[in-house]
Amino acid sequence: MSFFQPEQVSARTFIEYVEYHPALESTNSLAVELRDELYHVAPALVLTDEQSAGRGRGIHTWWSATGAITCSVVLDAHRHGPAIESRPLIALAAGLAARALVAELLPNHTVQTKWPNDVLVGDQKICGILSEQHSTDSGSILIIGIGLNVNNSLATAPDEVRQRATSVFELTGQSVDLTEVLIRLLNHLSHALDQVCRNPVETAQESAKCDRLTGHEVKIQTPTELLAGKCQGIANDGALLLKVGDAVREIRAGHVLEFS
Ligand code: BTN
Repeated sequence: MSFFQPEQVSARTFIEYVEYHPALESTNSLAVELRDELYHVAPALVLTDEQSAGRGRGIHTWWSATGAITCSVVLDAHRHGPAIESRPLIALAAGLAARALVAELLPNHTVQTKWPNDVLVGDQKICGILSEQHSTDSGSILIIGIGLNVNNSLATAPDEVRQRATSVFELTGQSVDLTEVLIRLLNHLSHALDQVCRNPVETAQESAKCDRLTGHEVKIQTPTELLAGKCQGIANDGALLLKVGDAVREIRAGHVLEFS
């Protein structure tokens, strides 16, 4: 039995084509594999009920179980994406969209983004985003992979995931209609993409306001060094601003190791 009604998704959102599979290794990987075809039907969605080898940022993996939303939105970078210099803001825009949805589902909780691509409830991760760009034989595509813990329990997750993650079900004890939640998520995403295309500075500023790290001590591993300092927010191009000693450093890639 499928948890999703793909025809409802294309009828009620900006998505024009849904590539649905009951089980997949990774929706992002299938989107990359099918990139030449998906380019022509974008905005498209790769969707599955059960993902067995989800990819995270860098070397990380993404654990998921049935009842979660695991999907990848495929856009024509030129027609649907922001200007090249604003592309780093796409993960932030998608994070804001997911944050808005989670805040509606969990009105009594504190829901924040965490640079560059997480959504947290309190300090527990509920959503991760992996955005990628690839060439096809006709143009470039943007892939926005979203993993959102909705009706799944974390009971069968590995220890390190269970300790730092949560789901809507874990927090409310109630299941929600996954197709309806996905449709709401995509409608928030459509709004966020519109904003990042028209006014990327607004996306960066909203992100800085909603970010768990802003104003807090952060330890971060960049590709070249380990840095610790107080987060000053997010720059207009999406970089994390970290005060290290007397200097404010602009960090464009990195993995947050600790925050207060
Ligand atoms: C992260 O937090 O490091 C990013 C996690 C992104 C997970 C999603 S689940 C759907 C899509 N397919 C994947 O293989 N990864 C993304």
